Amino acid sequence: MTWLITGGAGYIGAHVVRAMAEAGERTVVYDDLSTGIAARLPEDVPLVEGSTLDAERVARVLAGHEVTGVVHLAAKKQVGESVELPLHYYRQNVEGLRVLLEAVTDAGVASFLFSSSAAVYGMPDVELVTEETPCVPMSPYGETKLAGEWLVRATGRATGLATASLRYFNVAGAASPELADTGVFNLVPMVFEKLTEGAAPRIFGDDYPTPDGTGIRDYIHVADLADAHVAVARALRSAPGADLTFNIGRGEGVSVREMMDQINAVTGYDRAPTVTPRRPGDPPCVVASADRIATELGWKARHDVHDMISSAWEGWVRLHPEAARA
Ligand code: WQD
Repeated sequence: MTWLITGGAGYIGAHVVRAMAEAGERTVVYDDLSTGIAARLPEDVPLVEGSTLDAERVARVLAGHEVTGVVHLAAKKQVGESVELPLHYYRQNVEGLRVLLEAVTDAGVASFLFSSSAAVYGMPDVELVTEETPCVPMSPYGETKLAGEWLVRATGRATGLATASLRYFNVAGAASPELADTGVFNLVPMVFEKLTEGAAPRIFGDDYPTPDGTGIRDYIHVADLADAHVAVARALRSAPGADLTFNIGRGEGVSVREMMDQINAVTGYDRAPTVTPRRPGDPPCVVASADRIATELGWKARHDVHDMISSAWEGWVRLHPEAARA
């Protein structure tokens, strides 16, 4: 049994590859290396460079490695960029998935795990978002993830492919410094960058209807997220025809201000943030109900926000040694 991990050289993908290896699962990585980094992969995991839009290449790797399950993470993931380049996002995230699913069903692969996002919910007006909360994405990025879920589910129903969509909430942290996120697109690295530059980190709005006025999110350690993939991959293997959808979060909301306080404590910087206007499109509060996966598979997150920030910081200092405080 071999799992093909598309996007396996990415920040989240490389954590999934490592968790699968630690669980004794055989993997092969398929990645176009547009943002992925080959050095993130263990030496004994084969890497095939290619795009999911390349049907022939995908078919060759599925047959050549006797792939029986796919974990599909390869995708574009920047919300703002998706507003500027919607056609590019639909091509990469939806057409790339359609081509992959065609190859997967032709090859008789049994299981398919799809990397989805809390972005499918858009601006939920509930305290805890369950998998039944209506999906109303607010960006082309979120739309491509929801359309992806539909493609995956429809294919499963038509062919018997066992499928799962995992809706990630706000991913942070690193299992080890060399696997840390190298992008500066989310709160934690954006704050690290400001601190390193000697500038004040920014709070995008403190007039939200939340206890301290700043946005609330459900942060999940990438190592926990990777373990969830292992649990779901195994569940798919033992449940032919499965059609699963899970939120992957901690079920605990943390405000931007609380994150800033913890970041100051971990990094040793004591820099007061400045408050800027709200970032357009940001929902006030997005927190998962993480009950379904806990009840059905017995999985739940183990790491807290302190673990996320301190492990992310170790990775940041490795890349930006000038950030270290004496
Ligand atoms: C978190 C909170 C900001 C930076 C996005 C996507 C989502 C998923 C994860 C991909 C918000 C605030 C941030 C800063 C701040 N992406 N913030 N100052 O927007 O919740 O989610 O990334 O799969 O789909 O939408 O994440 O990390 O950008 O922001 O105040 O310098 O931090 O307003 O409240 P977001 P984020």
